[in-house]
Formats: sequence, structure tokens, C-alpha cells
Amino acid sequence: VPDLPAPSEMTALAEEMYTNRWYTNFGPINARFEEAMSEFLENGGSTATEVGTFSSATTGLELILRAMDLPAGGKVLVPALTFPATALAVMNAGLEPVLGDVNSESWDLSAETALAVHAETPLVAVMPVSAFGRPVETSQWQAFQNDTGVPVLLDAAAALGQQNVPQDLTAVFSLHATKPFGVGEGGLVVSGDGDLLKRAKSLSNFGFLGPAGVVQAVGTNAKFGEYYASVGLAQVDRWQEVQNRRQRVLDQYLDKLGSLNNQVTIQAGVGDHIPAVFPIFAEGKGEAIHKALADAGVQTRFWYLPLLNNHPALRHLKVVGPDALKVSEHLATGLVGLPFHAFLSESDIDTVCTVVSEAI
Ligand SMILES: Cc1ncc(COP(=O)(O)O)c(C=O)c1O
Repeated sequence: VPDLPAPSEMTALAEEMYTNRWYTNFGPINARFEEAMSEFLENGGSTATEVGTFSSATTGLELILRAMDLPAGGKVLVPALTFPATALAVMNAGLEPVLGDVNSESWDLSAETALAVHAETPLVAVMPVSAFGRPVETSQWQAFQNDTGVPVLLDAAAALGQQNVPQDLTAVFSLHATKPFGVGEGGLVVSGDGDLLKRAKSLSNFGFLGPAGVVQAVGTNAKFGEYYASVGLAQVDRWQEVQNRRQRVLDQYLDKLGSLNNQVTIQAGVGDHIPAVFPIFAEGKGEAIHKALADAGVQTRFWYLPLLNNHPALRHLKVVGPDALKVSEHLATGLVGLPFHAFLSESDIDTVCTVVSEAI
């Protein structure tokens, strides 16, 4: 359930846009939003503070990969447990996603797995994912990038406000309406590499660079625009309130699920941060929990399921790594996303937890 600015919080920006007669193409409100996000990230501990807006995280990922100028058809490691856009961006950039397993506690790809894969199957890039909005531990990826020379692009789509980005990495965040930092549609690329970001931004504007209207590289139209930038600027001002509302819901869930300790697992580290969505794992019980909650009138989501290689259009993707998809396949038997948004009451959360408890 989106938590976005009310119309009254947007009025001044809408007036400004109308007066400016400037609606897209890197306008003044977009520039202010980028500046505000650079500061936002810096305040959160990021040292990569070059920021660029895109029409979505998916186009941001694709255009950064294109701007990296990787060898066509090269293999890019992605986790099998992720939102499909991670792999789609790789394919749309003319590269081949290969699927690796995730860690059994953090439910994300590890640099250890990437190293094992790279030794067998040379990679041109790796895309770790901030799974379900859980921040990735970046030092392992800085070391991997340093040691192998293979660039790391972090798909942090769901983790804006949670994920730090160090100077030597590039990350892409989503501003989709359902994300904690929702705007509507949009992507935010954060990098320490200003030239890389400049090339990707040029690709988002048809590949124009230098003299207006002259194509220097084969781009597309993936710009963000002033409407969304206005929502984004208003969202910066209400971020702390958004966080507070989500923290309250998370605390209530953790409290009530505590009694199911042996039967329900949550992603390691949840509580130290506020995730974007709230999947729980109960071995072999995902469908049963989903059904019991549906019968009680409560919606669930099978976030990141099916695994990428079980989507009809992605079945051909190669699985790599020493243990195939052992952990991911195990998680797939029991992951189910509970309702997780700012407008749940304590009694809603009580109901959900009671039904989950009965179902297991
Ligand atoms: C891990 C991951 N990558 C990419 C995306 C795509 O983001 P967008 O909708 O902004 O293209 C999402 C969206 O949910 C996501 O969760």
C-alpha cells in the first residue's frame, strides 16, 4: 500500500512546474531532486554520491550495464531468488544472466559464491540484490571487484534509505509506488563513477551527448521527468514519518512472531533495518499459510517466486555454482510475504500472526 504525498504537499511544486513550462528533459525540479537524494544518501552513510534519475530501476540497471561497455553476450551472475527485472535488465542489455544460489540466512547472493562461479565460468559482471530491501554487506563486493576486476552492479531496487553505497560501487534503487520511498515510477542510480553515470544518462536521452540532438551512442528514452521529481522532492520531506510508520509495523510483527521462533524464520538482520516487504519462511508451508490467510480475507504475495529459472521465458537460463540452487529451492517451499505497510493496525497484525500460527 503506497505511502505517498497528499495533493496539498505537491501544490507548490506543481505551480512551479507550470510556471517553468518545463516538464521533462532534466529540468530544474529533477536537478533539485538529484541534489536532495545525493545529500540523503550521504547522510545515510554512502560515499558514492553521484546521482541520476531514470524512468525505472529496470531501465537504470539496463543502461548502466550498456554504459559499462561489456563484451556482448558476456555472462552476468544474478541470484535465482530475485524480482525478474534483475535478469531482464541483463538480457535487454545484450548480456546473458547466469543464476547463482543465495545465502541461507541473508537470502542474498554472496561474494564467496560469485568467486566460486567466476573460477569455473568467467563473468563480465555480477549483480547482487538487496533482497526484499535488506541491505547487502558491501565490503565483500568491494573486495570481489578489486580482486577479480569484474564490475559489481548492485540491484538495490527495494532498499532506498537502507542500503549504503561506497564510492567504488554503483547501485540502482527503484522509486516505484509500492517501494518504501515511493514516487510512482522511477529509478535512481548512485555511483562513485561520474563518467559511467553520465554515459547512462545520455543513453536515457536517445544517446544524445554534446551538441543537442546528435546521437553518440544507441540509446532510448528512459527519462524521469518533472512530475515524478516533484513527488520525489515532497517524499524526501516526509521520509522520517514514512520510516516511523513502517518501524511501528515491523516492531509489532517481530513481537508477535517471536513466539513462533522455532517454526518461522525471518531474513537475518531484519530488525536492524526495515525491509521493503516482509517474507517469512516456514519449511514446506508457504502454500498452506497463503491459503489460511486468503480464507481469512488477507492477501499475501510470493515475493521473488517462482525462482527465475521457473518463469516460462527464463527457463533457458543457466544455473551456476557448486551447489546449484539448493538454498533457493529450499526457500521456495516456504516463503510467503505477509502484508507489510504503514496502514496496518495492531489488530490487523494480530489477526495475521494468529492465522499464521494456526496454519503451521
Ligand atoms: C530486486 C528488484 N529489481 C528490480 C526491480 C524493478 O524496479 P522498477 O519497478 O523500478 O523497474 C524491482 C522492483 O520491484 C526489484 O524488487
